[in-house]
Amino acid sequence: MTRARTILYDCDTGIDDAMTLLYLASLIRAGDAELAGIGTVHGNIDPVTGALNTLRVLELAGVKAGEQGVPVAVGAARPMAQDVHYALEWHGTDGLGDTRLPEPAGRPVAEPAAAQIVRLARAMPGELTLLATGPLTNLGAALLLDPELPSLIREVVVMGGAFDHPGNITTHAEANIWHDPEAADLVFAADWPVLLVPLDATHPTAVHDDWLDRLAAHDSAAARFAVRILDFYVDAYTPTLRRRGAVIHDALAAMLAVDPDIGEYVQRAVRVELRGELTRGTTVWDARSLPAEDTRRPVRVAVGSDIPVFREILLSAVLSL
Ligand code: BDR
Ligand code: CA
Repeated sequence: MTRARTILYDCDTGIDDAMTLLYLASLIRAGDAELAGIGTVHGNIDPVTGALNTLRVLELAGVKAGEQGVPVAVGAARPMAQDVHYALEWHGTDGLGDTRLPEPAGRPVAEPAAAQIVRLARAMPGELTLLATGPLTNLGAALLLDPELPSLIREVVVMGGAFDHPGNITTHAEANIWHDPEAADLVFAADWPVLLVPLDATHPTAVHDDWLDRLAAHDSAAARFAVRILDFYVDAYTPTLRRRGAVIHDALAAMLAVDPDIGEYVQRAVRVELRGELTRGTTVWDARSLPAEDTRRPVRVAVGSDIPVFREILLSAVLSL
């Protein structure tokens, strides 16, 4: 583990976002990370439900959230240049696997998520890791609000994209990028350090029976909650994986943000296809072994990780709560 990070988390909670919140909660409770704030965005579900889900998960994990704790700000309700689309078949009609948890005690703050990004970045220049595991609309809007934002952020870590891996929402596109291709391209064009964690890296980390059974054997509120939401997610994933299991994409991005040594990376300029009839929302890199023609700042793209270590750390994090 490298030095403790201060994280500003942007998400669309969502089952794997919820698992990521449990992971982050374990880091916070152990003093290994700080959470400056959270913003929610359209994606798996609408951002108001996503914010309430975020509060529910943090409260269940023993982290104070809302006006009296970690601020949870509601963000963009739709993408920049297309219709909104939710992923209820993967995450349930409540975003948490139809678990229908009660209302959280805390409330979202009044400030919009993009404004919160700008304010916190200005308050803590050079300190924040901006972790994004939903569509990138809030980050794109924050870049438009404050052109100096890139110089204020330590690192941007994004779960999204697919390169040598099929898409998961269209043949070529990954969901987070496809949900707002214009915003994603703004993020990859900006002059800040970006770590991108695409399906190429997340899919091989799928958890299966042994991991799920160890989780189910543990009797704590956090473990029971994780089992319930993963039951739904596993049912959704099993046909794709052709065996019982699920891909907890967002947690890998969070783990690589705080523990980069468990990943393998390449450096590439990344663009998003904005016009293709079949390929809109696809991430594209120039992988030719020629001097790069693209003048964009290269993105660090995760192409693999130490999978047993990822699974073990995630399980221990949930069991620690
Ligand atoms: C991404 O899409 C969402 O459904 C998940 O939460 C994850 O962030 C995977 O493509
Ligand atoms: Ca997500």
